[in-house]
Amino acid sequence: MSSQTKAIINSKIQYKSPSNIAFIKYWGKRHRQLPMNASLSMTLTHCHTITEVEFVYSENGFYLNQFFLDDILNLKFKNRAENFIDSIKDEIPFVNKYKLNIRTTNSFPHSAGIASSASGMSALVMCLLKMEAKLNQTEIDLQKASRLSRLASGSAARSIFPNFVRWGKTADTDNFSEDFAEEIVSLNSFPKLMDTIAIVSKTEKTVSSSHGHSLMNAHPFAEARFKQANDNLKDMLSAMHENDLSLFGEILELEALTLHGLMLSSSPSFVLLEPNSIAIINEIRHFRESSKLPLFFTIDAGPNIHMIYPESIKEEVKPFFENSILPLSLKLIEDIQGTGPELLSEVYE
Ligand code: DP6
Repeated sequence: MSSQTKAIINSKIQYKSPSNIAFIKYWGKRHRQLPMNASLSMTLTHCHTITEVEFVYSENGFYLNQFFLDDILNLKFKNRAENFIDSIKDEIPFVNKYKLNIRTTNSFPHSAGIASSASGMSALVMCLLKMEAKLNQTEIDLQKASRLSRLASGSAARSIFPNFVRWGKTADTDNFSEDFAEEIVSLNSFPKLMDTIAIVSKTEKTVSSSHGHSLMNAHPFAEARFKQANDNLKDMLSAMHENDLSLFGEILELEALTLHGLMLSSSPSFVLLEPNSIAIINEIRHFRESSKLPLFFTIDAGPNIHMIYPESIKEEVKPFFENSILPLSLKLIEDIQGTGPELLSEVYE
């Protein structure tokens, strides 16, 4: 606070932040969102959240005044955002002098079954850190943004960075941090990837990610899984460095099916896949065999199927999506590897 030069009485900061799709899955955590294994993701573009935070100078200390989701007051998200900001106040002490109004909207329908916590929490943190940076006349510290986003939702740590992003250690001795994610810049010659998401169901998840993570604590396969994920991450990175798309795709699909295998074998067990999820997986595998095109799938904690392929074969896979996948889906959302959060507007008075 001491480095502040000028009080800001009122400001509005708006950020757009993308979702990300995990290639190597974070499933199992300890303490406050520290992962049990390293994960690797691709930052998306079109699946994003736009959040505007209004900061109004207040002598009464921090409080969250209003939270609008898609122009409608939302008490559940207000409580979640308020608790989160409360929990990081020591990290952003300036906030003790402001009351906040938050307006947020997702580019994808709230009920589309696409996780909005990664884009939503990273967008909120970027707004908070932009205000801090403005007050301190510095730049946003992206490692801090990733670390604070992680405290809200583990996968949000990865949405701060563009392209391919890793979070966590594959061994106690490696140099990566568990506190924040980082872009894997050495992968800049890997083909640009697309992600066409087959929305299979819009119903809310029956089991939250947080609950799913907690079931890993007593999971009989936990130790083997954490080791497998770390090995898969190393193997996937090697495949990507060597431009070996078929090995990349093999590991990608193994990770997705392992994630759902862990759910099937948790106690209590749960099933998030729908009959059409399986039908789509089979279609993709048949298509790949007959066309020899590098089209692969991954799956998040839900029934929707993410179809991953290089942008260069976009036109070749389109008829397959329309003829074979769309009839098994509610809709398709086309997305592409992205560049990370973007400041849309800032106004200070
Ligand atoms: C299956 O990040 O949503 O998408 O840390 O409890 O908020 P919390 O969980 P969350 O878990 C994501 C799980 C996953 C895999 C991944 O994104 O790595």
